Amino acid sequence: MSSAILEARQISKRFGGLVANEDVSLVLAGEPGQVVSVIGPNGAGKSTFFKMLSGFLRPSSGQVLLHGQDITGMPPHRIARLGLVRTFQETTIFPDLTAMEHVSLAHQLHREAGDLAVVLGLPRAREDEARLATSAADILELMELSAVADVAARHLPQGLLRLLGIAMGLAARPQVLLLDEPYAGLNPEETNRAVAITRKIAASGVSILLVEHDMKAVMAISDRIHVLYFGKKIAEGTPEEIRNNPQVIEAYLGQEDKELGL
Ligand SMILES: Nc1ncnc2c1ncn2[C@@H]1O[C@H](COP(=O)(O)OP(=O)(O)O)[C@@H](O)[C@H]1O
Ligand SMILES: [Mg+2]
Repeated sequence: MSSAILEARQISKRFGGLVANEDVSLVLAGEPGQVVSVIGPNGAGKSTFFKMLSGFLRPSSGQVLLHGQDITGMPPHRIARLGLVRTFQETTIFPDLTAMEHVSLAHQLHREAGDLAVVLGLPRAREDEARLATSAADILELMELSAVADVAARHLPQGLLRLLGIAMGLAARPQVLLLDEPYAGLNPEETNRAVAITRKIAASGVSILLVEHDMKAVMAISDRIHVLYFGKKIAEGTPEEIRNNPQVIEAYLGQEDKELGL
């Protein structure tokens, strides 16, 4: 039995002859609300790793434990219910629905009352609806989206749509949130804002696993960093340790668009 929040034990993924992840281990332990990043050059296997943690890909070998429970190979919706949620860069957005409606909709998908109780309008379901509406407002507030709660998605700029995607992930009330390149395509101002909000999410007690190319953002926000290189983990440590790790520097040499911000 593991006391870790999340643990990957030597997980591997092979696509035919290609080894996308090889015996990758990661332990998310200690206080909830830490930010742990996974970095590495393009094609290093970061997204594959996240997909195995969240159930979108089944590991070829190894185990994933959430609060000590073996979740290896479980479907994503079951893993989400157990508290681990992955948000997508390409979140489903309905142009005519408002920000509030998107978060409420995501809530509906995760509500505790069964569908039948809702259809019948039973008291338990009505209570649930009220509670979900409140927490949707709370989530919009946390994400600094309250001002646009009633604005249709088609009027929202890219930066806010990205935050809305994360808000929809939070509607599942996760304990662990996986963010795969949440700041990609954002301008510096939007990135700064999104980084600050990511910090607030963590401070609210949600542990965050982050894949991000923006090294300045990664170094600023992470409690710990894991480095993948050709599918293998080559280093793990604090931002300071990673910045000074010769193997990591070597791995990034020649990667002109992904310098470590040294
Ligand atoms: N579904 C798939 N089928 C075959 N190869 C894949 C698949 N997904 C990823 N790969 C390969 O696995 C490697 C790691 O990919 P990925 O995890 O997306 O890397 P990263 O997110 O670090 O850029 C790459 O060589 C990629 O082409
Ligand atoms: Mg990727």
